Amino acid sequence: MRIAIIGGGYVGLVSGACFAEFGVEVAVYEADPTKRQMLLEGQIPIYEPGLDKLVAGNAAAGRLTFPVKLQDAIERAEAIFIAVGTPTRRGDGHADLTYVFAAVEQVLKVLDHPAVIVTKSTVPVGTGRKILEMVRELRPDLAVEVASNPEFLREGSAITDFMRPDRVVVGAESDRAREVLRQLYRPLYLLETPIVFTGLETAELIKYAANGFLAMKITFINEMADLCEKVGADVNDVARGIGLDGRIGKKFLHAGPGFGGSCFPKDTLALMRIAEEAGAPSRLVQSVVAVNDARKEGLAARVVAACGGDVQHKVIAVLGLAFKPETDDMRESPALPLIRGLVSRGARIQAFDPEAIQTARPLLPESVVLTESSAEALTGADALVLITEWNEFRVLAPARLKELMRGNVVVDFRNVYDPAPLRAAGFSYASIGRPET
Ligand code: UDX
Repeated sequence: MRIAIIGGGYVGLVSGACFAEFGVEVAVYEADPTKRQMLLEGQIPIYEPGLDKLVAGNAAAGRLTFPVKLQDAIERAEAIFIAVGTPTRRGDGHADLTYVFAAVEQVLKVLDHPAVIVTKSTVPVGTGRKILEMVRELRPDLAVEVASNPEFLREGSAITDFMRPDRVVVGAESDRAREVLRQLYRPLYLLETPIVFTGLETAELIKYAANGFLAMKITFINEMADLCEKVGADVNDVARGIGLDGRIGKKFLHAGPGFGGSCFPKDTLALMRIAEEAGAPSRLVQSVVAVNDARKEGLAARVVAACGGDVQHKVIAVLGLAFKPETDDMRESPALPLIRGLVSRGARIQAFDPEAIQTARPLLPESVVLTESSAEALTGADALVLITEWNEFRVLAPARLKELMRGNVVVDFRNVYDPAPLRAAGFSYASIGRPET
């Protein structure tokens, strides 16, 4: 079987490499010449564990190619996946579909055989139907079907998520479209992965509803954490205590600085708009968006309070910049409002992240010093603020912190440190939703 993937970004590249690993012939079309050149030379423009090897292996085996021309990419392809970006549109919070429709139009211009156009990018409900209209209008001569196959992979564990998903969702309205997708996901039958077949609109909504629900779970436990701080309860135990109830589930109940990344902020905002426009506004989703934004904006104030009410001229070591570990992605990272807030209050920032230094630099105030190691960031610091839970930060021992820092404040936005040894070593330790003593 042969397929094409339009867009060599996160979702496109991971899906392409994984389908190739399943034994499918995959052509990934990347329109940006710089990115395409990198891919042709075996360089991966993003950081994702294992992706470089998977791409290189399948490219060497001839199953994964990066054609220069769109026409070559879609030649003989039974399915053409649209995996281009759908960023938040400026002004109204809707997903910007410019790239999606442009890709479909270009495909339809040069397509010369029947195929299934599959949306893999997260697209608003109704997009599949619009693509179907484009097909009927532009290519009434060809039997082109449209399907929706949303992707649920997480950054940092994208390959495992793709290869071992909890489920695959396929929105399709013809036997042929269903059959092509069923064939593609055949290798997952051995794992007994359920494939949920639905209509187009339903598949599109499942993706938003899943992300909206997970974002709501995180936001809920974050609010419980704030309550815990007021009443002297421990949010980690609350999460465990409720999560063991199978109806609730223990995942996505880690209290923290608020969610970031390329999906949750964008998709909750888009879902909010979709629901409003459809005449069924979701007050829950609206609250998730507002509560999470406010939480991220309030992070600097939490650090100021932990530092005794003032950070003017204080040196603050910020450990972590990416929105989560195992990625260099800075999109909507809580580290950004945190650092901006601290700098505006006169703090001097020394920040370190194992992967995100380069992506972070243009997004941060110039005065922020980006260091080459956590030790360098901590040297002479009055306070340590941990915002991304990279493993290498978890293992920093109190004695080592004492050695490097001049102050004794630790603010742990991810609850990774054990409070007792830090306090025993003389640190003033603040975390999220855990008792002070
Ligand atoms: C998410 C979804 O999980 C995935 O299914 C979808 O396809 C894309 O969006 P991703 O953004 O890569 O994936 O990361 P995820 O691990 O879900 O974390 C998202 C954000 O939530 C991060 O900022 C993370 O720190 C935060 N988070 C997650 C918490 O604060 N607490 C949790 O318990 C889980």
